Amino acid sequence: MTTHIMPTYARQAITFDRGEGAWLWDMAGKRYLDAIAGIAVCNLGHAHPAVHRALCEQSGKLLHTSNLYNIDLQARLADQLTTLTGMDNVFFCNSGTEANEAAIKLARKFGHQRGIEAPVILTMDKSFHGRTMGAMSATANAKIKQGFAPLLPGFIHVPYNDMAAIENALQSHPDIVAILVEPIQGEGGVNVPARDYLNQIRALCDRHQILMMLDEIQTGVGRTGKLMAYQHNDILPDVCTMAKALGNGVPVGACLARGIAADVLTAGNHGSTFGGNPLACAAALAVLDSLQQSDLIADANTKGQLISAQISAKTQNKAAIVEIRQLGLMIGIELNRPCGELVGKALQQGLLINVTADNTIRLLPPLLIDQSQITQLTDTLSALIDEFTR
Ligand SMILES: Cc1ncc(COP(=O)(O)O)c(C=O)c1O
Repeated sequence: MTTHIMPTYARQAITFDRGEGAWLWDMAGKRYLDAIAGIAVCNLGHAHPAVHRALCEQSGKLLHTSNLYNIDLQARLADQLTTLTGMDNVFFCNSGTEANEAAIKLARKFGHQRGIEAPVILTMDKSFHGRTMGAMSATANAKIKQGFAPLLPGFIHVPYNDMAAIENALQSHPDIVAILVEPIQGEGGVNVPARDYLNQIRALCDRHQILMMLDEIQTGVGRTGKLMAYQHNDILPDVCTMAKALGNGVPVGACLARGIAADVLTAGNHGSTFGGNPLACAAALAVLDSLQQSDLIADANTKGQLISAQISAKTQNKAAIVEIRQLGLMIGIELNRPCGELVGKALQQGLLINVTADNTIRLLPPLLIDQSQITQLTDTLSALIDEFTR
C-alpha cells in the first residue's frame, strides 16, 4: 500500500474490487457479505442498476454548471425531498458534516435575528456530527476533538435521552437557540432513546421557541424503517440534515428546513461549488425513486428484528451480550467487553461488520439483504461472538 495517503484512517488490510447487492469481492476474487454498507451509505446495495443508469445517462449529458445558474435536477430533487419529508426547502452540499455546518449557521443566524449575540446550540453527550470545525465542536465525543482546540464556542452538551437535563439546560442558558440531536446515536454506540424522546423535544422546542434540529445523516433514507427516523414519531423538526445513503455512494448532503427556519438563510449567506450538481442530484433522484418503488423501507424493521432475534437465539454465551438495540436495519449488539478485534476476525470469515463505542457491534446492512444472507450473517457472527467470549 502507498504511504502517500495521509494516515487519518485505521484501515483493514483489504481492498475491494467490485460489488453487487449485499456482496463485495476483494482483489483476489474472494466474496464478502457486507453488513455495514459503507457505514449506512449503500442502502440500495452495491452497483444498483437504477443508480448506475442515472449516473451513466447524466454524465453523458451534463456533470456540472455551478450554482450560478438554475439546476433542473436540483429543483426536482428538492421537490421530491420536501414532499417525502414534510420539510419546506433544502440546501444541498456534499457530505454529512457540511449538512450540519449549514444547520449550525442557520441556527446562529436565527439567534441573531432574535437579538441573541452569542447563540448556543445544545447537543448530546456521545453525539457525533462530523469532522469540520463547526460539526466537530457540536460533537460531544471528546476523542474526536482532542488536539484541535480552540474549538468553536457556542455548544453545550447534556446526556442523551434525558429530558430533565435538557430542561435544566434551557433554564440556565437563555441563549440556547436550537437543539441538535441524532434520532438514534450511531457512532455513540447505536443508542436508541425512549419512544417519545423526539416528541418531548419537539414540545420543548415549541414552548421555548427554539429550533429542533435532527441529524439524520445515519438514520435517514430508510435505514430505520421509515424514510426519516422522525416519521416514527409523527413530528416534524425545524431543521433536518441528511447525507450518506441519499446518493447510495455518490457524495450528496442536504440541510432541510421548515417554517420559521426556512427563510433564515438568504442569498450570499451560504454556498457550495459542487452542492446539488446535476450528477449528484441524478443519483439521489434514482435512489429516492428506487426506494419508493420497492418495499425495502417497509421491510427494514422486520429484517432488523429477525437479525436481532437470530443473534440472541444462536449465540450460546448469552451472558456475553449485554443488550441488542435495534430499529429497522440499524442494529447495535453490546457485548460485556471491548470487541474491536471482532472486525478483523469477521473479515477473515467473509463478513463486514463494525464496532463502535468500543464494545458495540454495529450492523448496517444494505436494505436489500435477503433471508439467506441474514442467516449467513447471524450464523457467522454468533459463532464469532461465542469464540471471542469463550
Ligand atoms: C450522525 C452523523 N452525523 C454526521 C456525520 C458526518 O458525516 P460525513 O462523514 O458525511 O461528513 C456522520 C458520519 O458518520 C454521522 O453518523
